[in-house]
Amino acid sequence: MTMRILGIETSCDETAAAVVEDGRRVLSSVVSSQIELHAPYGGVVPEVASRAHVELINPVIADALGEAGVELADLGAVAACHGPGLAGALLVGVSAAKALALVTGLPYVQVNHLEAHLYAGWLEDPDLEAPLAVLLASGGHTLLVVIRGHGDYQVVGETVDDAAGEAFDKVARFLGLGYPGGPAIDQLARTGRRDAIAFPRAMPGEPDFSFSGLKTAVVTFVRREPGVAVADVAASFQEAVVDQVVGKLLAAADEYDAPTLVLAGGVAANSRLRERVTEAAAATGRRAFLPPPELCTDNAAMIAATAWWRLGADGPTPLDGGAHPGLGLTR
Ligand code: KG4
Ligand code: ZN
Repeated sequence: MTMRILGIETSCDETAAAVVEDGRRVLSSVVSSQIELHAPYGGVVPEVASRAHVELINPVIADALGEAGVELADLGAVAACHGPGLAGALLVGVSAAKALALVTGLPYVQVNHLEAHLYAGWLEDPDLEAPLAVLLASGGHTLLVVIRGHGDYQVVGETVDDAAGEAFDKVARFLGLGYPGGPAIDQLARTGRRDAIAFPRAMPGEPDFSFSGLKTAVVTFVRREPGVAVADVAASFQEAVVDQVVGKLLAAADEYDAPTLVLAGGVAANSRLRERVTEAAAATGRRAFLPPPELCTDNAAMIAATAWWRLGADGPTPLDGGAHPGLGLTR
């Protein structure tokens, strides 16, 4: 019997809802971005985010149900992201999902945001061959994960300071490119020279990442050479990030004998990263699996897909389950 799950995602600055059937068929995926609300501040303002989620959550859920052509009675469960993320923002999605579960009698399922990002790959192709070497790079996290099967993850590396997306955002802000910084740098870098400036590649030979030295190197360089072409800085910075992460992803794939390389998280939308991972896979006889950018950035389809597996493995979440801002990736 098929099961449709309504997923809700409100961990940061996107209010999202989606209906997914059996963990793999996306019937609808609605994402309402708050980027314009936060842009004047150069980053996400938690209190502004929570208030916007409160206003947007009901219309976004209604749109997701409408686009999927289903009613609450057609659902098998309601799921929400319970962490990691901003406390006030998470609470909006969790409360909405629990309220719906309470009035309909449907099971409630809480979903870890990081695990959900990992599921974007499976959502695109349920037959991906494990082990998978996954780079999960977002605004808040940068993890190198080997997936052996559903719910069976090994975190083999992680950032010791900034997240990769955070580095993009901070450098873009310094260069005056606005927020969010990743897409702005990605765009501008296309017209710049990647080899213009030799920025450092941190922690070679180690599985962990570091980006804060690179950010400082960009600031120091631009202060010393204010006339430098901004596109060259963007392209050279991006290349340094991409070199670092692709090198570590390949090393993990080697060590854990993973035939497939997967990108996940917002930074996985980066065009140069996608190009380099594709090349690296071809050069080493592996498969590159790159979910479409809309499944890489925050969305609720990944929440609903993960919920389907979690419900099967763990059963429903008790309705007293709260929000967990500091949640990590549990294995
Ligand atoms: O996964 P995500 O949507 O939200 C979090 O869970 O953090 O990731 C957002 C991050 C931001 O830092 C944004 O600048 C970055 O992903 N990002 C990109 C690109 N698109 C989004 N970074 C580099 N290149 C992109 N094209
Ligand atoms: Zn995310």
